[in-house]
Amino acid sequence: MDLFDVVVIGAGAAGMMCAIEAGKRGRSVLVVDHAAKPGEKIRISGGGRCNFTNLNASPQNFISGNPSFCISALRRYTQRDFIALVERYGIAYHEKTVGQLFCDGPSTQIVNLLLAEMRLHGVVLRLSTSVESVERIGDGFQITLSTGTVTCRSLVVASGGKSIPKMGATGFGYDLADRFGLKVTETRPALVPLTLEPGMLERMTPLAGVSVDAVVASGKTRFSEAMLFTHRGLSGPAILQISSYWREGGEITVSMVPQVNVFEELRAARSRNGRQALQTALAALLPKRLAQLIAESEPGPANLADCSDKYLRRVEAAVNQWRFKPAGSEGYRTAEVTLGGVDTHELDSRTMEAKRVPGLYFVGEVVDVTGWLGGYNFQWAWSSGWCAGQVA
Ligand code: FDA
Repeated sequence: MDLFDVVVIGAGAAGMMCAIEAGKRGRSVLVVDHAAKPGEKIRISGGGRCNFTNLNASPQNFISGNPSFCISALRRYTQRDFIALVERYGIAYHEKTVGQLFCDGPSTQIVNLLLAEMRLHGVVLRLSTSVESVERIGDGFQITLSTGTVTCRSLVVASGGKSIPKMGATGFGYDLADRFGLKVTETRPALVPLTLEPGMLERMTPLAGVSVDAVVASGKTRFSEAMLFTHRGLSGPAILQISSYWREGGEITVSMVPQVNVFEELRAARSRNGRQALQTALAALLPKRLAQLIAESEPGPANLADCSDKYLRRVEAAVNQWRFKPAGSEGYRTAEVTLGGVDTHELDSRTMEAKRVPGLYFVGEVVDVTGWLGGYNFQWAWSSGWCAGQVA
């Protein structure tokens, strides 16, 4: 039987960061993962360029049953700390929209950085290794792996969420928490495209591929980013962001040209050129296919000159106050993250250790802390992993 100070389950962003930090403290550390390669989600992230953090990351960018839980970890290991590590490895990066930092080259540079740090600090990595059972033995743990049995003083669960099951995502961490009597909040796919009712989808089919810079709102929450019409429904950053707040049966409001007073623009077009068709006037504000669909969905007079103010108001509402109820979401198959997870009330916010099970830690996405789109989820993985690595 192998003895380790720390066993980390999951060679993702959070698990590898935790292992590095524990290794730095001279702990013997084993990281196990059932996947054949480490950091697969890092590799596919950010369209292959890994949006590894956000310059403006702060607790306001996270959703959790306990919004103040993430404050301590985000303060102790900040985006600047991770940027310094990236710079130390000479990885070139650039800022995209609003503080989002991406690698100039492939995301694998971040995976290689983490692997190099693990090697430097003596961390043992076992891939293609599944966990068969976990037992509490005294004040440590005995873990039966497909490759043999190991024992450890500290067990760190970094097994991520349920999103992209095709890549090996499982509910393992939630089940383990449950087995140790820890509460797990309801989980659901987040940062996920939304689907439409069949009738509406059929009407919108011609719009697949059209994108607008929209303001998308659900209740009091709103995001101002690109929205994309797809063959299945709606996607793009604005929709992914709002999907984390939307609930089944709820309404979404979209403003497709939020900076424009559509009513005034249409009135001006009417006085300039009364013989113009509504669709043509709308095409000056919106992509042509979208202008056409909106004009068709609000049937009215052939010429602008014959359009009443009341009618133009209706058109304005269709453009800048489009309300609809999504049919659902594309689910875990395409969701970037899982909302919910191990209840933060069960964990110490400084160390990520389970208050009722000393020696057991949960880090990264498996915890009920979910970031917005834009590098926040990796920052949570780095920060929470780092915190556990200081004590595990
Ligand atoms: P992560 O899921 O990375 O790692 C968990 C590991 O545990 C995996 O290697 C898995 O194989 C392993 N595992 C699971 N069950 C196991 C078991 N039973 N036994 C052994 N091993 C097990 N975020 C961001 O900030 N910027 C971005 O650009 C993107 N882009 C992005 C794109 C796509 C397509 C997705 C799906 C997600 C993103 N994200 C993102 C989100 C980000 O990838 C995610 O939040 C982090 O990877 C979470 O890191 P963790 O280490 O917690 O889990």
